[in-house]
Order: sequence, then structure tokens, then C-alpha cells
Amino acid sequence: MRPRSFDVSRRGLFGSAVAAAALGGGAVAAFAGEAHAAAGGDATSAGPADTVYPFEGAHQQGIVTPSQAAAAYLALDVEAADGAELVAMFKALTTAARWLTAGGVAPDVGMTGTSLDNGVLGGPSVPADGLTITVSVGASLFDHRYGLAAKRPHRLVMMPAFADDLLDRSICDGDLLIQVCADHQDTVNRALRVLLRETRGSLAARWRQDGFVSPSRPDGAPRNLLGFKDGTANSAVAGHEEELVWTHAGGSEPAWVEGGSYHVVRKIRMLVEFWDRVSVREQNTLIGRDKASGAPLTGTEESDAPDFNTEYKGEAIALGAHIRLAADSGRSATTGQRMLRRGYNYDAGMDVNGNLDMGLLFTTFNQDLERQFATVQRRLEGESLADYILPVGGGYFFALPGVRGSDDWLGRGMFA
Ligand code: HEM
Repeated sequence: MRPRSFDVSRRGLFGSAVAAAALGGGAVAAFAGEAHAAAGGDATSAGPADTVYPFEGAHQQGIVTPSQAAAAYLALDVEAADGAELVAMFKALTTAARWLTAGGVAPDVGMTGTSLDNGVLGGPSVPADGLTITVSVGASLFDHRYGLAAKRPHRLVMMPAFADDLLDRSICDGDLLIQVCADHQDTVNRALRVLLRETRGSLAARWRQDGFVSPSRPDGAPRNLLGFKDGTANSAVAGHEEELVWTHAGGSEPAWVEGGSYHVVRKIRMLVEFWDRVSVREQNTLIGRDKASGAPLTGTEESDAPDFNTEYKGEAIALGAHIRLAADSGRSATTGQRMLRRGYNYDAGMDVNGNLDMGLLFTTFNQDLERQFATVQRRLEGESLADYILPVGGGYFFALPGVRGSDDWLGRGMFA
């Protein structure tokens, strides 16, 4: 069955939002009120009660966008019969993502049509609620089925098993990954259901993981479920997105990848019962930062740069500390390995043995998967923290370049 697509041009709200984005370098008229410039990254606008991220741009939303509170990662396999149906699927996905992320009233399907909306947010007019929809493709999409082999982003391969992994392949990989993030979980739920409905017959769900970001407590980066502030070092990536986040055409990369990003998701379980019996002093040593403040053990403020160089014996920040290994001692030669992390906590209840099943949906966006994520991940092999965490799933994906205009659609470059 082919996905349906709808003409959204009649939607006044959507039209004005896009026009505002084009004019204001990102400011978009918000559903609930006036446009405001929002701080940081591609955070574009907010009304007093709502946040709307523009759907169109050189890059997709949901990458440098500040993390919203709720997320779902949905990996899917493509079941389209042929290339034409695959194209129709990408167009349908684009159409739905366009109106969902704008907020407002779902497109009119006429007297006899079935409503596009599922009512999870009430309505008919609903807030955008900071919704972002980010679509990425997996290496398996570039096999023999759709004639796309020559279009594969050069670094995109199936995610290998690293030394400390215990991968459950039923929660790994996929032809497509849809990352849906919003300020509230119900907005994520509504969007996921619309996206699945609009692509029904062409996509089959493979695995799904839901996540949340905790409020900042009491300040700074939000905490992961080990109780540590997580994301502090992302400040070193800000302003360097062209070298660290966005993929460029040329060299071995096909032309269409310009403006995309290698998207890695890893489900890393935390052995929290074990962790909670370890002294805070030991926990600090394992990470290399102070649990309460988030400051590196060589400093006093979360924003202080870790000093790896003056402690050759690793007495302040241990030689095996997570941040020392992850940053490779912070030497300038490795700045090209820095990566944008955009992780979410997950809490999936209990396993069959009654152990808590929670951890981190480690997520990172990279210009070059091998130079950044894979290199750092290999350096972390055997780290002391590995006794308390267990990577069990995820995959390598490539976040498609942005949708550049009202006639453009996600993935168009692959078919050019
Ligand atoms: C459950 C697993 C993990 C936990 C609990 C964890 C925790 C942390 C914490 C608390 C920090 C310090 C605060 C910050 O800068 O964000 C940090 C930093 C960092 N982590 Fe992780 N992490 C995990 C997995 C990973 C993985 C899989 C990678 C990459 C392969 C990674 C790469 C980094 C990097 C690059 C930094 C910044 C280091 C720096 O430049 O100072 N982490 N992590």
C-alpha cells in the first residue's frame, strides 16, 4: 500500500510559520502567541506557552536543537515494493512531519475522509510543543532492493559490536530511524502514531526506545541515571558544527549528503543496583568529575575545563576516568574527535530477574562516524566505568540533510 500524502497549502498557520522562519533567521510565529527569539542552536522561536521549531532549513531539526524533555526512537524496516513506493513514503513522511511540527489544526481531509489526527492532544488546534522529527537512514537501505547502493554515505555501515557490548540484535539496526522529541510525552505519542499511519504498508516497526531528559538539578547539564551531570562538554562543540556535526559533499562522500550528520544511537543499560552501592568518591574517580557540582576533579565549577595535562600520574583525573579517555586527555590534536552528544535517559521497568532496567540512550551526531564516535568508543574499551554499564542495542544511521523549501522532501537527494 502506498502512503498517503496531503496538500497542506491551505493551512494558514503552517504557511505563516514558514514565512516567518524565512524572514527572521529562525523566528517563527508561535501557535500560542507572539514570536520570540529562543536561545541556542537552531532553537528558533517560542510563544509564551509553546515552542515551534522550523521544519525547513539546511539541516534537520532535532540535532542541534536543545534537548526536549521526551523522546522516542523508532527504528523501522522498509517494505516498499519498489523505488517509486519508497519515494512516496519519504514524501508522506515529510508532509506529516511538516504539519505535526508546526502545531495547529491537522490538514482537512474533507467530509468523507478519516481525520488525520488521533485526538491524543485534544484539539482541533494543538500546540507544537517543541516537537521535532528527525529522519535518518541505516546502511541496510542501500542494499540491492531500491538501487541505492551507489548513494550510501561513505561511512555508513552496520554498527559493529564493540568489546564491552552485549548486543541483542532484535533491538539493533534498521533501514530507517525516526527520532521524535517534544516537551511532553503525549506530543511524542501523537506524532509517532500519525507518522506510522501515514506510512503504513511501506514501513514496519523494528524496535522502539523511549527516553526522557531530567530537569536541570540544581543547575547546569541535566543528570543521567548515574546521578552525574551529562552533556557538559557539549559546550566545546558549539560554534564548530561545520567541522564536527554536518557532513559535507566531496572526497568519498556523495553530493547528496551535504548538511546531514552521522547519527549513532546506543542503548546502554546501567547496572544501577550495583552503582548505588559504590561510594561517591569512587564514582567521582570513575567519571573524573564531581557528582554534586559536575566540576572536573581539577576544578570547582562545572564550566571549568578539565586539566589533564598537569596531572601526568592521573592523580586528580584518574588515567582510566571516563572523561580522560573520552577526551583523549583533551589534546588539541584530537579536537576533531569531539562529538555532539544528545542522550536521553530511559527507564524500562524491570528485567525477568527483577533487576531495574534503566540507562542511557546514548545519542551522538557526527560529521565523520569513524573519526569521531568509533574512535572514541574504541578508546573507552575496558574503561573502569564498563563494570557498571552494558551496551545492549542501537545502531548507526545517517540523519538526512534538511528540507530546503516547500517543494523539497526528506531524502530527495538520494534519488537525484
Ligand atoms: C552509560 C554510558 C555513559 C555514561 C554514564 C556517561 C557519562 C558521562 C559523563 C557524566 C560525562 C561528563 C559530563 C559531560 O561532559 O557530559 C561524560 C563525558 C563524555 N562522554 Fe560519556 N558517558 C557514557 C557513554 C559514553 C559513550 C558511549 C561515549 C562515546 C563513545 C561517551 C563520550 C563522552 C565524551 C566525548 C565526553 C566528554 C569528555 C570531555 O571532553 O570532557 N560517553 N560522559
